[in-house]
Amino acid sequence: MEQKKIILDVDTGSDDAIAIMLALSSPELDVKAITVTWGNRPVENCVENTLRVVELMNSDVPVYKGCPEAMVRYMNEEFISSCTIVEDGVEYSLHPAYLDLPEATKKAEKKNAVSFIIDYLMNAEEKITFITVGPPTNLGMALRAAPEIKENIEEVVFMGGAINKGNAAPVSEANFYHDPEAAKIIIDSGVKCRIIGLNATHSAELNLDDAKVFDEINTPQTRLAASLLRSRVDVFRRLKQGNGYSDAIHDALAVACVIDPTVITEIHKMRCDIDLGRGLAYGQLVADCRYGNEPDENTKTSVALKADKDKFFKMLCERLG
Ligand code: RIB
Ligand code: CA
Repeated sequence: MEQKKIILDVDTGSDDAIAIMLALSSPELDVKAITVTWGNRPVENCVENTLRVVELMNSDVPVYKGCPEAMVRYMNEEFISSCTIVEDGVEYSLHPAYLDLPEATKKAEKKNAVSFIIDYLMNAEEKITFITVGPPTNLGMALRAAPEIKENIEEVVFMGGAINKGNAAPVSEANFYHDPEAAKIIIDSGVKCRIIGLNATHSAELNLDDAKVFDEINTPQTRLAASLLRSRVDVFRRLKQGNGYSDAIHDALAVACVIDPTVITEIHKMRCDIDLGRGLAYGQLVADCRYGNEPDENTKTSVALKADKDKFFKMLCERLG
């Protein structure tokens, strides 16, 4: 089997952790590096959480610390607080400051993630698939500094964006909302982009019965996935933003579709842009579907709208099991 060479860019994060476990346990992928960005938490927390998961996977994949802030806007504190609730003195967070895993003994590489991305892509023998499941600041900065690196990018697969309904803001999804300028730089670069947004991730939500199946498989990886899934469902219930039974494991779906594209059941080529106005729609993924603006051979962006939950869950059970 021809392995796909990937760089995985994360802001670990509860669903990022499941995405990392899926990527590192799939023979179809050759994970060259994991680069870490700010987002769900400050970048230092995201690095520590990433290292803890990499150690759980007994992997020697190098981890690079990246940008602590977006290219333009400042760290969006209210987003973190909006994913955290304190009840009876107990903090419940969608993305814990530190994952409930042993403190990492492994260290991040000395080189900054942006420098690594530029150096690696400038010298790559083969093209890379770049999977970004946090604010896309690291790749945005790298492309700004060295646009020629796009020649060695096979495809960018985003967990990001949404058509119509957002999460961090009314029509904006968190990753694109956190760094819309970076997302726009990447989309405008002309590199092929597959955008796995909320429409697709919420069509393949995992639920509390799936968490029981993870428990029955009973590996360290499935036990972690079960606990992260349960805590996500619980936090959204407490925030009165969830149904108390299921939730989207967004980032893992972006990895899953690189392993098996058929996990996405509806995807369309669309002319895409990102709203950079500082109004209500800041960070919105705008897909132009008007007559006369149909996609053509120059359209490099596709947007996923639906996924196959059973296929996705089966893949997670097999790989994490
Ligand atoms: O909107 C979902 C995205 O925001 C996921 O990547 C999650 O980890 C958060 O970063
Ligand atoms: Ca993420």
